[in-house]
Amino acid sequence: MIEFNNLNPEIPYQILKEKYDEALNAGQRGIEAISISSYNKDISEVDSRYVNLKFISNDEFIFFSNYDSPKASAFNSHDQIAALVYWSSINVQIRMKAKIKRKTNEYSQNYFFNRSEEKNALAISSNQSKPIDSYSQVKENYNRSLESDDLKKCPEYWGGYSFVPYYFEFWEGHESRINKREVFDMIDDVWKQSFLQP
Ligand SMILES: Cc1cc2nc3c(=O)[nH]c(=O)nc-3n(C[C@H](O)[C@H](O)[C@H](O)COP(=O)(O)O)c2cc1C
Repeated sequence: MIEFNNLNPEIPYQILKEKYDEALNAGQRGIEAISISSYNKDISEVDSRYVNLKFISNDEFIFFSNYDSPKASAFNSHDQIAALVYWSSINVQIRMKAKIKRKTNEYSQNYFFNRSEEKNALAISSNQSKPIDSYSQVKENYNRSLESDDLKKCPEYWGGYSFVPYYFEFWEGHESRINKREVFDMIDDVWKQSFLQP
């Protein structure tokens, strides 16, 4: 589930919420999963991964991750990303483009403090995406963290990311194949609405 707080009244946000409610009512599983594509300028490589979108607060999309991970390196080298969801229960794809930045330490600490200790132990004990000898070593590191770390204190290598889309495309599949593609592009601080051919 995504938590919506004080949602931005502009049209693309309202369409997003409408589609979210429809997908949820249609039984969409994993509705908070969102693919984030990044470009790491230093190694000239594009990559994608899913994250769990936790909040949409006004116009900000917020998720949490490791600040030493490959995605963090990519965001540091190039702050523009593409985000993507597909809600199969209603056959809707939403494409977004945005600039990404970190949330403040205070924000991340507050979120971390209120999370389950089990989740926090994993965030603390995992050098995300670094190789390790075995899966049992991962479990050992996790159990050690559960027993001995301060599970309320957010480590400096973990926290929130937020992005505010400047581009939305809502793709709606129709049985007729005459699929609908509606775009909202932020140009000079105004949403420019248009349609694309399927
Ligand atoms: C549905 C789903 C949700 C995920 N949510 C998160 C998340 O919220 N934060 C995160 O760091 N990784 C999450 N992951 C794991 C990432 O996809 C990825 O494996 C990890 O962040 C390492 O990515 P990187 O090597 O590109 O930095 C999720 C994976 C899936 C399949």
